[in-house]
Amino acid sequence: MYASLISIGAYVPNEIRTNQWFADRMDTTDEWITKRTGISTRRISKKDELASDMGAEASRLAISRANMTIDDIDMIICATISPDYYCMPSTACVIADKLGRKNIMAMDISAACTGFVYALSVARAFIESGTKQNVLIVGSEKATQLMDYDDRTICPLFGDGAGAAVISATDDKTDAIVDINCSSDGGLQELLLTPGIGSGEKQYMQMKGNETFKVAVRTLTNDVKMILAKNNLTTKDIDHFVPHQANYRILKAVGENLGFDDSQKVITVHKYGNTSSASIPMAINDIYESGRLKQGDTLLLDAFGGGLTWGSAVLNFAGKTIDK
Ligand SMILES: CC(C)(COP(=O)(O)OP(=O)(O)OC[C@H]1O[C@@H](n2cnc3c(N)ncnc32)[C@H](O)[C@@H]1OP(=O)(O)O)[C@@H](O)C(=O)NCCC(=O)NCCS
Repeated sequence: MYASLISIGAYVPNEIRTNQWFADRMDTTDEWITKRTGISTRRISKKDELASDMGAEASRLAISRANMTIDDIDMIICATISPDYYCMPSTACVIADKLGRKNIMAMDISAACTGFVYALSVARAFIESGTKQNVLIVGSEKATQLMDYDDRTICPLFGDGAGAAVISATDDKTDAIVDINCSSDGGLQELLLTPGIGSGEKQYMQMKGNETFKVAVRTLTNDVKMILAKNNLTTKDIDHFVPHQANYRILKAVGENLGFDDSQKVITVHKYGNTSSASIPMAINDIYESGRLKQGDTLLLDAFGGGLTWGSAVLNFAGKTIDK
């Protein structure tokens, strides 16, 4: 039995926040943010719109594009750093409730911006072991609520949104997820963190940006080299390189190190900013909805985030090409 990604969906909040919004409130400029990050706009969820609401919207789309109903799903995994509740109940349980599903295994994954790739890896293991048939994986973030708007070094970087995918069992090897590699180094926890309850600090995200930048470029590059070599692939075998969207300068450096050309690279950071665990599924959804992602295309996902965590995946898109 193999696991395959058979559909993708996303939810993007309507409100667009420009760089000028930050320039009007703190000591920064549109030029600085654009030049150092590549970000022009990010989306902001409504006040009462939680990670579970956005995740449920993305999930509805992914489930309908898989030609399924929620009753066909037998497990829900949600990756998030901005859950509705502190540790319990999980956002996955709330998403299940919002989708009208009871009696289902549902849990969250804490792997920061690598969360979607970690969720993919868990879904694949459950399916390949024969335990589950159709797993809904979600990355959903109300990340702007974790921002300290007195800290100009971090608050312009993040945005809100959600992405979801259905991972299903198949006996067709051509549809299978080819490989996934997930890893971490807790020794680098201080580069990127949100203080916990009991720390005496506010629950705002903190990042040592410059150090994180360097580790991100190195790790994302090495991760791709490893997974390609392990599977006897080269960059030419990849149709779409989908890196975690944190900073355009990181994507440019990694893309150049690996020799991907522009037609292979998927870039959304300019319009959505960093949406953490939602960044990769939102980016896949973008190329799906534009008609660029076709059935059978090979995707290479490459993520990096707090933990530190990182992960890469090679898979063939087993969903139907969208009718344009
Ligand atoms: C955060 C980031 C954009 C900062 O860019 P940078 O080129 O590394 O800039 P630095 O942190 O070295 O700061 C340079 C200067 O700009 C200033 N600065 C920081 N944020 C600023 C802002 N929004 N506007 C204006 N100036 C700013 C700093 O205070 C610093 O000033 P100083 O030289 O007087 O001390 C970049 O480091 C980054 O993207 N890091 C990694 C992000 C990432 O990968 N995150 C997550 C993984 S999920």
